[in-house]
Order: sequence, then structure tokens, then C-alpha cells
Amino acid sequence: MKKIELHLHLEGAAPPGFIRGLAAEKHQDLSGIFDADGNYTYRDFKDFLRVYEAATSVLQGPRDYARLLEEVLENAAEHGVIHAELFVSPEFCGGADLHAWKDHLAAMEEVAQRMGRQGISSHAIVTPIRHFGPERARKSAICAAETSGGWVTGLGLGGAEDVGRPQDFAWSYDCAREAGLGLTIHAGEWCGPQSIRDALTLGVTRIGHGVRAIEDPALVRDLAEREITLECCPGSNIALGIYTDWPSHPIARLADAGVRVTVSTDDPPFFHTDMTREYERLSSAFGWAETEFTQMNLWAADAAFCNDSTKTRLR
Ligand code: ADE
Ligand code: ZN
Repeated sequence: MKKIELHLHLEGAAPPGFIRGLAAEKHQDLSGIFDADGNYTYRDFKDFLRVYEAATSVLQGPRDYARLLEEVLENAAEHGVIHAELFVSPEFCGGADLHAWKDHLAAMEEVAQRMGRQGISSHAIVTPIRHFGPERARKSAICAAETSGGWVTGLGLGGAEDVGRPQDFAWSYDCAREAGLGLTIHAGEWCGPQSIRDALTLGVTRIGHGVRAIEDPALVRDLAEREITLECCPGSNIALGIYTDWPSHPIARLADAGVRVTVSTDDPPFFHTDMTREYERLSSAFGWAETEFTQMNLWAADAAFCNDSTKTRLR
């Protein structure tokens, strides 16, 4: 089945072997972030962010990012993904300095175009890191606005959801909107329905996760009426302990209530998942089959931050 993946963190999709290889080349010691089997290991979400940032520290320069993007798109394509939207942080690519970002971007765009010719299109969603604060987010938003229109088509705040409020990032969102970028934000993953209501004030059309909307029926109705698309990542939520198992994940209840849900992997090696596994687990837990997955991918095509000719190909 052809799949559209709207929520995939580039750094978070780095296979542990890839990161270990780069660490060895650079004589960097990263032993604390892997378990005995060589997988990433972390205790909870805060620790996950620490391990994530430690792994990301070996990515130094455009060439490393280009190599990573190639590997990540190849892996996604193996699971039937025909279009991926990648969260990428200028703050990790040269400290959100515009010149450094442009160099990183040029190297990644070359890979994205080549992989596009091989059947997997992609775009970048510039990702300020919430726990780095609004000032640093502004620098990322400027990087996004200044490079809008090619591979970069969106802005999407990530990081620790319990730090600050979405409104603290309004300047960055206004800047991105004026540059014509699509808008999304992580919300309703760690915090409850109010975090989603706050996120909507920024004018987003999509929400990263958003699943905790299920705790507020009025909000669920509002999301359905406004045709807000949720970038659900059920395997991620279960691996991080937000839900105990697949049957208790709210994605099916949200879909039944008319909310536009889609499925992505978030940070696949961290959560021991891939798009094949996500689809298989949804199928086992909720009996979803081709009809449901086709509907979901049509919603994903509608919500994708891409031009009309790409949308036509995705449908
Ligand atoms: N960055 C990478 N994965 C994330 C997640 N699941 N939530 C927030 N920020 C993230
Ligand atoms: Zn995410």
C-alpha cells in the first residue's frame, strides 16, 4: 500500500548504526545512549530528548545531513512511503545561522530531488525546539521564511510540550505564515486539550499528535468541523507510555468522530517502529483495512504541505 508520512523527524529517524558510524569517524563517545543490543535507550520523554540531542550532536555539517536524509528516505520508501514530510531543525544545522542553514539545505535538497526521481517525494518542515525558547525559535522561523518555497514548505514547533505556551511562539508563526509556509505544531501529546486549543490560535492547519483532544468532546467536534488534520503517531505514543497498548489508543475513536487522522512514525528507530508495523498494528487493533487506510491517505494528501501537482500524484 502506498503511504504518505506527514510527521517524521529527520534526526529522530537516524538509525543507531548510522549515528555510531559517524561517532566513530569523529572519535566521539556516545556509549551512554545505546543499550547492549545497540539500540537507543532512554527512561522517559525528558531522557528521550537528551538521547535525541546527544545522537544529533554527531551530525556536523551539510554532508552528514545529506547522508542521513538519503538513508531515511530509502528506509521510508522500503515501507511503501511515496511522500514524507521531515521535521528538520536549523538549530541543529549550524545553530540557526542563515548561511549555515542554506548550506545544509542545499545538500539536503540535492538528495531530496534525486530521491524524488526514484519515487519518494519529500518536503522539510522547519522545527524550532520549544524548550530552547522563543528567541531561538525566531531564528529558525527566519531560516524557514528565507528559504521558503523549495524543499522547505512548513513550520512545526517540536520539543518539550510542557515548556511555555504556543502563544509564546506567535511571532515565529506569523513570520512563517507571511512567507507562505504551512503551519503545524506538536500539541496534545503530553499536555491535554487546552494545549490544542492554544495551538489553534496560531493558525495551524495540522497538529502533531493532537490525540489528547479525545479528552474533550467539544474540541473533537471543533477539530472535525474545522477539518484540522492530526499527524498521529500511535507507535510513538505507546512506546513513550502515553497509552498502554494499541486498543486503548484514541486514533480510531477520533476517526469515528470525523476527525481527519493520519499515521506517521515520528522517530522510528527510537520507538522500534516503521510504517509497515504502524499499519499492521492498526489493522489488528481496530480491524482497519484498505478502505480506512485509503481515506487516511486522502486526508494526508489534502493536508500535505506541497504543491497541487504533488497532491494530484499522492491521490
Ligand atoms: N521531537 C522528536 N520527537 C518528538 C516528540 N514525539 N514530541 C516532541 N518533540 C519531538
Ligand atoms: Zn514529533
